[in-house]
Amino acid sequence: MIKIFPNFDELNLFAAEKFVEIAHKAVEKDRRFTVALAGGSTPKSLYQLLASDKFKNQIDWTKVFFFFGDERNVSPDDAESNYRMAQESLFAPLKIADENIFRWKTEVKNAEIIAVNYELTIWKFFEGKEEFIVSTDDSDFPRFDLILLGMGADGHTASLFPFTQALEENKKIVAVNWVEKLNTNRLTFTYRAINNASNIIFLISGESKAEALKKILEGEYQPEKYPAQAVKPHGGNLFWLIERRAAQLLN
Ligand code: 6PG
Repeated sequence: MIKIFPNFDELNLFAAEKFVEIAHKAVEKDRRFTVALAGGSTPKSLYQLLASDKFKNQIDWTKVFFFFGDERNVSPDDAESNYRMAQESLFAPLKIADENIFRWKTEVKNAEIIAVNYELTIWKFFEGKEEFIVSTDDSDFPRFDLILLGMGADGHTASLFPFTQALEENKKIVAVNWVEKLNTNRLTFTYRAINNASNIIFLISGESKAEALKKILEGEYQPEKYPAQAVKPHGGNLFWLIERRAAQLLN
């Protein structure tokens, strides 16, 4: 489903209402709601809106369990940290309990270990076992109720950047991803984790995304070059929430 909004505020309002709707359904079904947050700058205003008087009482936050679809390889209090952004805009205002937040433990100064720890943390949460389950089918693979995603001007999503190694990872939940152009390791969900979600919402705003978005939604299928193109939840709903300037090149 693609929805184009006249402005960013209306996009965030719709996104917050969809977040609440998905949360209610998940809690009704499983008595909990698992969500992987997006990083970067776009989602910050959605998080602030969810923590505002307008929405904060619409969800029982004790039943919400927060994860991160990707993270920078920096400490959790670094200005670049996706966790820090969520902590300031969502967790602190809502007084979310630590046991409801599962962040990448990036204080460990080794990206591979951070990723292994996070993989095990997610398995343990979803399957109750602290072990790798390299399952072939997705029946026992962790399924998030909602995964929020942004998209970069180059068509990357989470930290799945064009022509990077993690695009090929099809067994694990998370991966370390060396991003040459940023000269750094990033930590990211894999397509397998993303596409196993029950719901995926893309939040896309700003003129800088227009070019990539046109290629992704209307161009030929080349996910190596435009990684967001390979986001297709096989058993879930996909929502592209797009602000008008980002949609300006679409037919
Ligand atoms: C990150 C994000 C990344 C982000 C895009 C868009 O860690 O940076 O997960 O995928 O969503 O880069 O970023 P903006 O929202 O800042 O444009």
